[in-house]
Amino acid sequence: MQIFGVDIGGSGIKGAPVDLDKGELAQERCKVLTPHPATPDGVADGVKQVVDHFGWTGPVGLTFPGVVTGGAMVRTAANVDESWIDTDARALFSGRLGGLPATVLNDADAAGVAEVRFGAGRDRRGTVILLTFGTGIGSAVFVDGVLVPNTELGHLELNGHDAEKRASSKAKEDGDMTWEHWARRVQKYLAHVEMLFSPELFIIGGGVSRKSDKFLHLIEGIRAEMVPAQLQNNAGIVGAAMSAAEHG
Ligand code: BGC
Repeated sequence: MQIFGVDIGGSGIKGAPVDLDKGELAQERCKVLTPHPATPDGVADGVKQVVDHFGWTGPVGLTFPGVVTGGAMVRTAANVDESWIDTDARALFSGRLGGLPATVLNDADAAGVAEVRFGAGRDRRGTVILLTFGTGIGSAVFVDGVLVPNTELGHLELNGHDAEKRASSKAKEDGDMTWEHWARRVQKYLAHVEMLFSPELFIIGGGVSRKSDKFLHLIEGIRAEMVPAQLQNNAGIVGAAMSAAEHG
């Protein structure tokens, strides 16, 4: 079966039909730039462009970089325009797509759902935590393969700061940090998350997962196994489509 997945990020809106049996994109994805400011209206236009590119007429799953409840309601907007808060994103996207059924979920939750089913967390029991390091830090917590949605562990406090302001990959770039310097911050952050949840496995996702050979070995003192995400750039698209198949 195929369902359309869309991943809404700070820089791009990416989407493609997803083959749900294989957990892979069924066609090459289409990407448009995220408008700035990333208002609901502007983002919905971008989503329409991506979906129309394929002439898609079925259900659509979408990610959003904030808390999303009930597959619809946006509750926080840390790195996008504040006007998203309390927007019914399901109604917005469905309306803009001419009434196609839509389901919306947090971006890290979507990536986690895909990794746990098809990637680095496949067949793993116990507590598994996927963390995405990008503009912010996203989190997806699973217990025996079942997601606890909207955990927002990127906003834990680290040395008196919002953790994602200290340890995201944007923080690394903005602070011009070496891999060693950044890895020490990520290590502190992981130690804190480990103290709270004692997971069996950390899956490290986001754009930096492609460069895991530069920093994973520098992180010490974490009891849980740490592995890079496997689906990388497409995890959000695949997870969004999976969620639409389940809840749409
Ligand atoms: C948001 C999360 C999101 C993460 C990654 C954080 O700032 O609060 O909801 O998953 O960024 O995009």
